[in-house]
Amino acid sequence: MRSFFTSRFGTNPTVIARAPGRLEFIGNHLDYNGGPVLGAAIDKYVTVAVAPRSDRKISLVSQSMKGVVELNLDEVAPVTGENSWVNYPLGMFAVLRDAGMKVAHGFDLAVTNDLPMGAGLSSSAAIELATGYALSTLFGFKLDKKGMAEAGRKAENTFVGMPCGILDQGCSAFGKAEHLVYIDCENNAFSNVAMPAGTHFWVFNSQKKHALIDSFYSTRHKECTEAAAILKKRNPKLANLACATEAEVVAAREELGADRLHRALHVVRETARVHDSVEALKAGDTARLGRNLTASHGSSRDWFANSCAELDFLVAQVVNMPGVYGARLSGGGFGGAIMALTDASFTEASAARLVSDYELKFGHKPTIFHTKTGDGAGVVVA
Ligand code: GLA
Repeated sequence: MRSFFTSRFGTNPTVIARAPGRLEFIGNHLDYNGGPVLGAAIDKYVTVAVAPRSDRKISLVSQSMKGVVELNLDEVAPVTGENSWVNYPLGMFAVLRDAGMKVAHGFDLAVTNDLPMGAGLSSSAAIELATGYALSTLFGFKLDKKGMAEAGRKAENTFVGMPCGILDQGCSAFGKAEHLVYIDCENNAFSNVAMPAGTHFWVFNSQKKHALIDSFYSTRHKECTEAAAILKKRNPKLANLACATEAEVVAAREELGADRLHRALHVVRETARVHDSVEALKAGDTARLGRNLTASHGSSRDWFANSCAELDFLVAQVVNMPGVYGARLSGGGFGGAIMALTDASFTEASAARLVSDYELKFGHKPTIFHTKTGDGAGVVVA
């Protein structure tokens, strides 16, 4: 990072911070419904370095993007087109400034990454969090981990325009090696749960991205919001959709209509699966955990309708391979990645067999990623 920064800006960075990517372990589309989720930070990071400038400009570069993006400190607004990657660091900057960070001068900002971009591992949340730590240190602004995760989500919701929940930013902030991150999204309460010993994560990215992925995500978000409003009218004590019982949802089936009924059924059943998975983790029952993962995929496919043929194929194949406890789509869906929880007997050769079958079926290869849990975001050099 130091040499990249110096080669682009001709100065040394003052602060370097990094933030990891994440895996969604279980709890699909529960975060913005106030449910519980389990995720993990992985040991691949986005690094952000910053240095002050004497003028009022912001200058941004990224190792994986061409060119320099420059703008005035006082005219920060979302960018469209090929430079739209800057919306993640700029969004974070805007949220921190609005939260009271005093900004007396401009800055240079550089991004490097060993976390692959666009691989379903939430590089966007990692850029937000790494930027948050770098800029808050540069400008002497204090925020705890929870505040930082919430600021990242706000940047994504208000600046990038994606109505996500707190899963990605929460995992990036609260990650811990050999642990999962448990988030109670009703209260934004974060904790860590130990991973069962000897388990491994394998990620297969379908390399398929639906062109309308963001609008599909927003549609699901809207259907859930509407379902919650209908159920709250019937039960004013209901805090959010994830708190509803299956009986309540079924009783409202006429009013909900098919789509909202199906989304709500997924949300309440997935909530039960996350609670059961926490119990299974505590009991060291990896087989039960694996069954929950695979059941979660079935629910995303059949009820939440955010899977696709490629992800269904990867899950159906991998769960029948030796050494696999369970597998599911991880993240927003409509393309993207699946993750499998395995023991050590699942190897590169097993992964290669799956890749080859996938290629025979779909004509292109998925990317493979054998990953470990990692530590959460923070400042590396200040
Ligand atoms: C994306 C969003 C998260 C979450 C997942 C689905 O990763 O960024 O907030 O909603 O999808 O669980």
